Amino acid sequence: MENRHGETPPRTAATTTTTGARLAIMELANMISVPMSLNAVVRLNVADAIWKNGENAPVSASEIVSRIFPSGSGDPENLQRILRMLTSYGVFNEHITSGTCDVSERRYSLTEVGKTLVTDENGLSYGAYVLQHHQPELMKAWASVHEAVVDSTTEPFVKANGGETAYGIYGKKPEMNELMLKAMSGVSVPFMKAVLDGYDGFDGVERLVDVGGSAGDCLRMILEKHTHIKEGVNFDLPEVVAKAPEIDGVTHVGGDMFNFIPKGDAIFMKWVITTWTDDEVKAIMINCFKSIPVGGKLIACEPVLPDQTDDSHRTRALLEGDIFVMTIYRAKGKHRTEDEYRQLGKSVGFLSFRAIYIDHFYTLLEFKK
Ligand SMILES: C[S@@+](CC[C@H](N)C(=O)[O-])C[C@H]1O[C@@H](n2cnc3c(N)ncnc32)[C@H](O)[C@@H]1O
Repeated sequence: MENRHGETPPRTAATTTTTGARLAIMELANMISVPMSLNAVVRLNVADAIWKNGENAPVSASEIVSRIFPSGSGDPENLQRILRMLTSYGVFNEHITSGTCDVSERRYSLTEVGKTLVTDENGLSYGAYVLQHHQPELMKAWASVHEAVVDSTTEPFVKANGGETAYGIYGKKPEMNELMLKAMSGVSVPFMKAVLDGYDGFDGVERLVDVGGSAGDCLRMILEKHTHIKEGVNFDLPEVVAKAPEIDGVTHVGGDMFNFIPKGDAIFMKWVITTWTDDEVKAIMINCFKSIPVGGKLIACEPVLPDQTDDSHRTRALLEGDIFVMTIYRAKGKHRTEDEYRQLGKSVGFLSFRAIYIDHFYTLLEFKK
């Protein structure tokens, strides 16, 4: 798209001219403004302030500030600076109108991306996931990503947090534990709607175990759709299931998947194995294998990396998530390719494997015993 000077602005580091390359590196070097500003709009509840019962009518920064701070405080000019920048990343639409004395006025509405931050009737949105990523304990680790290269035996998170792992700290700090639960629900519920519409692998299952099931949302949604499943077991760390709500047909069981996994006809697992090293993934898969009968399935939903590297949103979201895992959870935990998953399943004895691409971010991986 041309700008008002008739030039085509360079968009990515693939730009070949020297000027374009200098501009691209400036964009990359300043990019921290993007996630931190996104975090700011979530903290300020800007999406809910604009949304206002679904109207999503364009509003000025002053009006947004007055909705957020009815007492009259807040700085609209600084909010507008944040809104403009995030408009260029597709979170808001900007509407420019001529105001009084020919001074133009900027108004903002939510794009489809911005709408993912609006709180739904169950109190969920992608906002909690954004907040979860930007807590001080996690932020401290980001200054040390290079340490994962220097010495991959200890995670940047662990180095930055006095030797504590991320899950260790979530377990000790109730507010972090609860934010993690809310973040997982906010991301998983919309994804599960897609899974339930596009996957038929729950046929014949009577007892389903969700390993690392967090608050139990995935299991609740599976049981609501597949009424032939008589029993669901939500298995997660004791401090996590202690905060999980009661769900009809679901038993919450606390434990460590490296020690034991409750028995079921099938095991469901979403966004769990990604976090761990190859040896740890094999240990988890062996425990799953032991807990299901011959013919039973492990159904895992994980981010799966494409073989080729490109600048699409999908590739970027998956590669960025990979660096998140490396920095926060396990320096050698990782997003994997379809073939890497196939090999891991084979190495622990699963007889067949298929990958089903239902969603842009998560792929459904079915391992059959
Ligand atoms: C990224 S979250 C995914 C949560 C949920 N499956 C979802 O997708 O919404 C990973 C989950 O694994 C759980 N987990 C981590 N270590 C575990 C362990 N050793 N045993 C059981 N669960 C564990 C965490 O508590 C967390 O709920």
